[in-house]
Amino acid sequence: MSNSSQQMKAVILYDTRSVGGSTDRFVDALGKSLAEAGAYVEKGKCKATADYSFVQDFDVIIMGAPVYYLLVSSELLGSFFQSNLKKYLRRKKVALFLTCGSPEPMAYMMYLPQLKMHLVRNKILAEKVFAPQELSDKQAIDEYVNDITKAYRKALKTRNSALIWTEEAQELLAQIPSFFRNRIKIAAEEYAEEMGYREITVNVIDEAKAELE
Ligand SMILES: Cc1cc2nc3c(=O)[nH]c(=O)nc-3n(C[C@H](O)[C@H](O)[C@H](O)COP(=O)(O)O)c2cc1C
Repeated sequence: MSNSSQQMKAVILYDTRSVGGSTDRFVDALGKSLAEAGAYVEKGKCKATADYSFVQDFDVIIMGAPVYYLLVSSELLGSFFQSNLKKYLRRKKVALFLTCGSPEPMAYMMYLPQLKMHLVRNKILAEKVFAPQELSDKQAIDEYVNDITKAYRKALKTRNSALIWTEEAQELLAQIPSFFRNRIKIAAEEYAEEMGYREITVNVIDEAKAELE
């Protein structure tokens, strides 16, 4: 949760096989840029079997890694399968980055989905593929940070504005047995706020219901 001054608390979860390599240096520069933008920031190197309960304490989870032999580096990718990361990412706002040598369209088509397929219910604030020459480019890093902080502030603003129930959603709600209706109503509103939706549609209700199951 944000503190009273709404300072964004971010954690960078990353992986790399090269100690002191391009990703390590990039993550340091990313942390510095986030701090300059006013965020509280920590970083953690992924381990596929780590305990990720600490991510609860952060507003934004920034995740990324290099690509080796067509796969996002294994300790980050493996965390989705072998640890409790997915559980603690529930309803979290995330941002993604990759460091790789392939052309951008290929990276967006083949590599980013390896992370995004585990994040279909998360609000993704920003995603960027950093080419080798961009890894030490302060302007490119600052732009990525700017995208994250702007989308984060927008999501917070949406959260404080009134939610609109579509007619279909209201009809669906009316059909739910009364003993269950209020629970679904609250769950849908909480879910929409967390996801930054202004409107509660039938789909939003379905998604919120799926989370209750
Ligand atoms: C062994 C190896 C395999 C790689 N395989 C790919 C690949 O399949 N696709 C790609 O786009 N880049 C690939 N790259 C490029 C890296 O993703 C890129 O150089 C990255 O910045 C390396 O990060 P690091 O310095 O932290 O290891 C590979 C690099 C290495 C060393």
